Amino acid sequence: MRLLASAPLFLTLALAPALAPLAALAMAAENDSPASPTFHRDVQPILQNSCQGCHREGGANLGGMVAPMPLLDYSDTRPWARSIARQVKARTMPPWHASQDQSGIFHNQRTLSDSEIATLVRWAETGALKGNAADAPPPKEWPKTTDGWITGTPDLEISIGEPFFVEDDVEDLYVYFITEITEEMLPEPRWVKSIEFQPGSSIVHHIVAPPLGGLGPGLQPYIYPDNFGTLLMPGDKVRWSMHYHKEPGPGTGVWDESRANIQFYPEGVVPEHAVSWQSAIRADFVLPAGESHVEYTKRVTFERDSLLLALNPHMHLRGKSARYTAFYPDGSSEVLLDVPKYDFNWQTTYEYPHGEAKKLPAGTEIEFMAAWDNSADNPHNPDPTKDITWGEPTTDEMMVGWIIASDAEPGVAMPGGGLTSRARVND
Ligand code: HEC
Repeated sequence: MRLLASAPLFLTLALAPALAPLAALAMAAENDSPASPTFHRDVQPILQNSCQGCHREGGANLGGMVAPMPLLDYSDTRPWARSIARQVKARTMPPWHASQDQSGIFHNQRTLSDSEIATLVRWAETGALKGNAADAPPPKEWPKTTDGWITGTPDLEISIGEPFFVEDDVEDLYVYFITEITEEMLPEPRWVKSIEFQPGSSIVHHIVAPPLGGLGPGLQPYIYPDNFGTLLMPGDKVRWSMHYHKEPGPGTGVWDESRANIQFYPEGVVPEHAVSWQSAIRADFVLPAGESHVEYTKRVTFERDSLLLALNPHMHLRGKSARYTAFYPDGSSEVLLDVPKYDFNWQTTYEYPHGEAKKLPAGTEIEFMAAWDNSADNPHNPDPTKDITWGEPTTDEMMVGWIIASDAEPGVAMPGGGLTSRARVND
């Protein structure tokens, strides 16, 4: 299932003549939106396209981020009218953190057009009218989820092994589990098409599980574009590093058995491109106490023609902004992804449309820039009086710029079963 709605994207583009002054644009948007919108005629279609993927019973659980209320019917939505107006005006809902300049680039974009925002705001301001049920769009059919999975029934389901009890006195716990992919589970190597992790309890803060991937708050499952994948082999070991976080105290202990849903290409189908998850990592940064802007960069070089599928910036609670820039061998450069306001709760993989991977000519360098705010002005900062360095707890920091890419040449397998890095990481 895709959570994006493609319609608002086209609307945004259609409404944004390149040089229109902002004020005119806003007015055009307001004029486009009805004077007294009704729920059934004007609001419901927007909710169907852009909100209900998460805001419904059994809606998407993205790494523990579960929408707190359904927005299906009038009676569900009416009490939230003002809150909806506030959130969409501030562009905090739907959650999407790439710069607005980059509208239309990533296929999993979650945004509303200016006119949709104006419609929702005016609906709240004009009494949140119900309107005529005959104007309603046909109810949207949501894919039946099996066992809470978004991507469907697993071909291979694995877990951390067996239920694990997180004791009452635990506040933060980091534990490791290893699951071996045995020959009984996987008689022969298979190409992975999609990976979805499911936290086994509400206290799972994150899962890092190489070579499969991982899960953080707000992260969507990753579905490889057709013809791209990674190879899973019998004997591979999945190393789960789990972070559990809860309030400690009597009776707060919780059982967890987090799981992963792996789906394969049909037997015998070999995708042309073996994908590798590269990362631009730095562990030598220092964020001085109270400093409101500290930034570091790291470059990764692609020595062969490559295809870029997606980008995923990762920092912790002091993360402020992130940017990926490509420096091409002809001397030109291009901002690939700009995240002006990073939000730890919404770990997003920014995906190029399937079938439209970004071409990186041999010699391209991608620079990942991460910036942090370690001052008291950052409301998420757990302690602005401490110098901060690399560390696994969310109260320490990380700098990981994931770059999901493959060799451009079909059939060029990467060493280690297609799971290891091909690009050289600069020292
Ligand atoms: C990707 C999933 C997702 C989508 C899409 C989404 N939401 Fe949300 N929404 C959430 C989650 C999760 C929260 C809980 C808030 C948080 O923890 O950040 C939330 C919170 C909210 C709240 C605040 C509720 C409160 O408790 O105050 C409103 C209002 C809201 N969403 C409206 C919308 C509207 C309107 C849309 C569509 C235009 C939308 N959301 C799209 C996941 C989503």
